[in-house]
Order: sequence, then structure tokens, then C-alpha cells
Amino acid sequence: MNCIKDIIKSLRNKIELYEYFYNVLNISIISDQEYDKLIEELTILEKKYYKHDSSNSPTKKIGKNFSNELKIRNHIFPMLSLESVYNINNFYNFYSFVKKNNSENNLKLCCELKIDGVALSILYKYGKLVHALTRGDGYSGEDVTHNLNIIKNVPNILLGENVPEVLEVRGEVFMLKSDFNSLNNSLKRKTKKIFSNIRNIVSGTLRRTNICKTSKFVRRLFFCVYGYGFAIPNNCFVSHYKMLQKMKSFGFSINKYNVLHKNKKKILNFFKKSFLMKNKINFETDGIVIKTDSINLQKQLGYNNKFPKWAIAIKFDTENLITKVLKITFEIGRTGILTPVASLNPINFSGVVVKNVSLYNINQMKRLGIKIGSHVLVKRSGNVIPKIVRVINSTKTYFKKNILLPVNCPSCKSKLFLNNCNKLYRCLNRVFCAPQKEKLILHFFSKNALNIRGIGPKIIKKLVFKGIVNSPLDIFSLNKKTLCQIENINEKSANNIINRLNNSKKVYFANFIYALGIPEIGLLLSKNISKHFSSIEELIHSDYVDFLKIKKIGKKNANNLMFFFKSKNNIKYIKKLSKILKIIF
Ligand code: IVH
Repeated sequence: MNCIKDIIKSLRNKIELYEYFYNVLNISIISDQEYDKLIEELTILEKKYYKHDSSNSPTKKIGKNFSNELKIRNHIFPMLSLESVYNINNFYNFYSFVKKNNSENNLKLCCELKIDGVALSILYKYGKLVHALTRGDGYSGEDVTHNLNIIKNVPNILLGENVPEVLEVRGEVFMLKSDFNSLNNSLKRKTKKIFSNIRNIVSGTLRRTNICKTSKFVRRLFFCVYGYGFAIPNNCFVSHYKMLQKMKSFGFSINKYNVLHKNKKKILNFFKKSFLMKNKINFETDGIVIKTDSINLQKQLGYNNKFPKWAIAIKFDTENLITKVLKITFEIGRTGILTPVASLNPINFSGVVVKNVSLYNINQMKRLGIKIGSHVLVKRSGNVIPKIVRVINSTKTYFKKNILLPVNCPSCKSKLFLNNCNKLYRCLNRVFCAPQKEKLILHFFSKNALNIRGIGPKIIKKLVFKGIVNSPLDIFSLNKKTLCQIENINEKSANNIINRLNNSKKVYFANFIYALGIPEIGLLLSKNISKHFSSIEELIHSDYVDFLKIKKIGKKNANNLMFFFKSKNNIKYIKKLSKILKIIF
């Protein structure tokens, strides 16, 4: 039980840290999807182990930590959030719940795009703007009225007839994608610092207290109304959809894609269409929102402590995207393996555009059954390298073309060797094949190996091309004069590289083993190997049977290790390296 308590506590801490970064510092440290998953995990645990539930848990709070520079004011009606689901079955549950509780016969649901910006509540009395508040903790928000002049479409005075005496309007503030891109381009040129997403910049702009600081760059914001919190008279709206039309007549902007639908199928079609159109519209949208149209039914269904029970958001799955394979090219990997790379119709994973995905080896490409013209599902979760998960079978076969395998190495043109055991093609020209050399050197200095910054792919490519460097060993003999022969390297950066090389010669045994780039020996296995031996001598004199005794080392790994340490060239290389480096055992 104690263990569950700790798990819950650690989940709460994680979420609170994220919320602090997000709400106070305006920095996203995890994706929305990861955040939603943490909240879902915590909610399930709190329900199951209710003894450890707490009213202070982030699952019970609607928002935010406040910045201490802005005035805090109460919302008349709490500003709640929306229950978000990624799975269509959860939407079906919502639909059945609404249908079951609907006493009228003609159920209508309003479908809207969920704009990804910042929520704002604006209060009007007798048609005149009083103040504008951020969502804050849901009960009170920060007063940002002084920044409303930046939002181009918020009326100061409401237009038309039958304007309610009191009206608390709710909507989303956002920036156009085109404005965001040009702002970031100009920031890149001037300050090199850019915003990672629209929500951060909108929140920062809305909540700023020092206007001069940022007014150098144009920041046009827009406001789109999606509801209201409170109105007098309280019966002035009977249908959500019609309420939005009235808001339009008062002078607000509403979303032109809002529609009313009566059945599940049409709603799902709206979801699919919205997903397909998402990249073509000029504002960020992260899903759709479905709301019961009847305000009476909304009142009847009511709220829980966080969400209205009459609305739900179905979020777009932005981790899995479908695209088309345009062509397949081939590269040679660090260990000489022929690696197919799929060129894709570019896809955008929340701002990160992916055009090429490695297929690792021929077997993987065959297993997936990829052809030119195939539609494929690409997955990118967190910051992990995107990968093709599977082929979507709907494309017609006559549009697809088989892939011709090369006979020669795409780089050095030597004949490729087919290993009959694992059916992989390999270029055996280890010494003269440039990409193998480049990738091996890059691997040697990478984060989990020697971790020396500044020895990047561009420099290595040039050094190998000019014949200055052939192996990681040669990098340690570089001097300022040779480095300055390389395009884009001036004296200062040459000095930096040399200083870093001189100061980073201490390396743990495990990272050293990993740096050697032995086929299929990653960091975890390198750690296990390092624990097994207490010196380089002991390691290089071991044989197949010794290697098999190491934790998690199987026959294939033992074979790779045996072949690697059998080579006299490799032993010479290791001995030279161990003289230059200070290996920590
Ligand atoms: S309705 C009580 N409708 O999404 C109802 N929200 O993740 C609350 N959002 O806090 C909101 N577009 O800031 C609603 N069409 C829309 C929306 C929308 C964007 C935002 C809103 C909300 C957040 C929840």
C-alpha cells in the first residue's frame, strides 16, 4: 500500500512541476498528450485507492499557478476545463450518457474545432467591456484587460439588439500560424531565440506587464467565442448554436466550422474531416469539441468538479500520422549495413516536420511490405526518432512500385555482401567507405560515448572528405591550423574544439566500450560488459565463452564481440586510444 502512496505522490509531483513550468514560466516540458496521460493515470489510481485521494490533487484543480505581477479577480461562474479523450469508444460512452439523460426527443450536438490557444473570459455590463481574465485556477484569473488592444477582434461595446445586461463571454485567444512563423523568423534573425509553440507566445503576450519590451515585433492575436459563463437575464439563450450566432451579432468572431449534428456517424465524420483539414487552416487546432445544443439539457447534466458533463473534447492523435512513401534511397550505416531510408510526403508532428525515416535494414523494409506509393503510419512519441509502424492497406496496388535493391554500395560502389545468416546486405569496405568512417567517428564522440560537443556531422564529413581524418584517433591529433582549413571554422571555434578535446579525455569504461561501435552493442550491454571486466587487457583477451557469461549477452552479441576483439587492427586501435584517454574502471 505504501508503494501506491509513493507512486501517487510522485505522479502528483511530476504533474505539479509541469504545471508550474507551463503556467508560470510559459514553458512546455512535456507534450499535451503525455500530460493528459499522467492525469488519466493519476485519476485511475485515486479512484482505485481512494484512501490516498486528496482534494489538493492536480486532478481536482482546474488551472494554474499565478504570476504575481497581475491583479487576480473572480470569475462570476467558474471557468471549467473539458474532459479530453483520444479514444473513440470514450466518445461513444459520452454519447450514450447524453442520449440516456435527454428527455426531449430531438438530440442535437454542436461540433466545434478545438482551437489551441489560451482561454479568456471577458465581462460586459450593459454592453460595455469591464475586464478580461485568464482562466487562472478556474475560480479566479489574472486581469489582462490592459493587453486587449493587441487582440484585433474584441469589441469594447456590444452591437445589436437584446444585449444581455451582464454577459461573461468565454473564448480562445490565438495567433495565426502565418503570423507565428513570420514572428519566429524575425526573432531567429535578431535574437536567435524562438517560441516553441503558439500557446506559449499567446499566454506570454496576454500576461505581459511591460508592453515596450516586446512591441518591437508585431503580435496580432485573435479571439474566438465558444461559449459563455454567466448572463442576465439567465434565460437569454436556449440553444448553444443559436447563442453563438447571437454572439456574432454582438460583434464577436465565432468559428466558421461550427455545425450541429444529430447522430454519432456524422460527428465522427466531422472529426475525420477536421483531422484532414487541420494542417491546411491558419490556426492551430488540437481536436474537436462536442456539446449538447440544448442549454436546458446542459443545465440538467451539470458539472463535476472539473468538467461540464455536457461537453467532451476528442483530441487528435498527433503521435501517429499517415503519409505516402515517395521514394526509397539507400545509405550505409556505421557498421556497413545497407540501410533503406523512406522519403515521405512531409508530415508535421506538432511543429516538427518529418520528410525522411530510416527503415534500419532490408529485412525491416520487407517485413513492413513497403513499396513506393504505399501509405504508411508513422509514429513519433515524445522526442523519439520517428518510425514507420505499418503500411495502410487501402492504396490501390497499381499505384505502388516495388523497390529495386542496389548491388553496389551507394557510397563507395564496392560490391555489397549478402550475409546468408541474417539476410542483411553489408559493405565490407570498412577502411575506404566514407559514410562508415563518418558515422563511426560521430558515434565515438556522441552523447553516450565520449560526449564531446562540437564534433558534429558537418565537420566530420569535411575532415573525412579532405582525407585529414580516417578514424576517431586522428581527431585527437588535430591542431588549430588543420581545423582552420575547414570551411566555416575560424580560429575561435578551432580553439574551442581543441580545448574540449583536451578537457574531455576522462571516460567511463562502459562509455568507452559503447564508443567503439561494436555491431549491436548498445549502451546497456556496454554497461554490463564493463561490470564484468576490470581492465582493457582482460576484455581484449576474452573469448566467446567468456562473453556469454555476461548479463543479457546472447550468442549473436558474443559472436560480434569475439570477431571485434580478434581483429589485430582493432586491438592496435584500442591500445592507442587507451594511451590518449583516461579510462575510469
Ligand atoms: S468549451 C465549459 N469549446 O480547450 C466548457 N473550449 O482543453 C469549456 N477550447 O479550456 C470549454 N476551443 O480554452 C470549448 N470550441 C471550444 C474550444 C475550447 C478551444 C479550449 C478552452 C478550454 C480548453 C480545454
